[in-house]
Amino acid sequence: MTGGEKVPATLEPSWVVEAVLGWYDAARRDLPWRAPPGARGDPYRVWLSEIMLQQTTVKAVLPYYAAFLANWPSVEALGAADLEDVLKAWAGLGYYARARNLHACARTVAGSYGARFPHSEKELLTLPGIGPYTAAAIAAIAFGRRAAVVDGNVERVLARFFAVLTPLPAARKELRGYAERLAPSRRPGDFAQAMMDLGATICTPRSPACGRCPLMARCAGLKANLHKALPARAQKKEKPTRRGAAFVALRDDGAVLLRKRPAKGLLGGMTEVPGTPWADETSDPLCHAPVEGAWTPLAGIVRHTFTHFRLELAVYRARVGDVELREAAGPDQCRWAPRGELDTQALPSVMRKVLAHALQAD
Ligand code: ADE
Repeated sequence: MTGGEKVPATLEPSWVVEAVLGWYDAARRDLPWRAPPGARGDPYRVWLSEIMLQQTTVKAVLPYYAAFLANWPSVEALGAADLEDVLKAWAGLGYYARARNLHACARTVAGSYGARFPHSEKELLTLPGIGPYTAAAIAAIAFGRRAAVVDGNVERVLARFFAVLTPLPAARKELRGYAERLAPSRRPGDFAQAMMDLGATICTPRSPACGRCPLMARCAGLKANLHKALPARAQKKEKPTRRGAAFVALRDDGAVLLRKRPAKGLLGGMTEVPGTPWADETSDPLCHAPVEGAWTPLAGIVRHTFTHFRLELAVYRARVGDVELREAAGPDQCRWAPRGELDTQALPSVMRKVLAHALQAD
């Protein structure tokens, strides 16, 4: 279907809703932020899980979610936490602006809302880090509001069920239209999570298990044998590659030299191994070394993919004494971290890769 055509016969919301909810009652995933059947989710837990689940999988989120709840069991506790500690606990989940917004949102809710999240999508949207998807998810799951909750999994289910041939992202408006028409007033949170579970466990990207799908009987994508090809996607632009070098300086006691990144920009405020700027062209990397030393280039390259570019880092290592930190390295931003404390630093994934590469044989 393309935009503007008539709604197909398969759009009978009550049939879809009943089929999906019936399936959910039997097959729902048991996830720690979910309330027991028939109950509403706790707003703090729902919000926390939804922020964490953006751009990543349930499996990746589970240990982080457990650690956050253990450290900060309420929105007041999280709002009162040190941003530094929140960033440390978030390290490895990626997209660190989300952790800053998470903290800012907790402060706002704890400070200006009496520690109660607002119920409406409109008000939720005014809070830091809450966009249309998250606002709809919280309104539906935590407050039982009717809302169209559309993430990547749900888009796939809808594109297949309604055989939407328009490629993403152009198809988004049409898919949202379907989601709005389907969204039920009864059990809106269960319906939203059921659609997510369906996308994650049955209507999977490569090999959907159509035989077990509650929507199979009326799935237009399956009927046209297009299910595996949908949703169609516009050709992605190749990501550019940036290159640089990282310098792992080891003190005699094993401590590693780390520094803090500028507060603004990519990985803002996170901890890193000192290095060159990341650029399209490389120049002489050694003039960026943070301290004097016999810098040895290590074999191999550390690769990492960010949202907008790929990064390739050469890694240099040197054993240095307890040297004076060079003025040019920004002495107040550099510090020695004991080897045993590396795990607790706010190190983004790319820097964990660099350290693993440099320290594997140490
Ligand atoms: N992905 C994002 N939110 C989710 C939820 N509430 N349940 C399952 N998967 C999700």
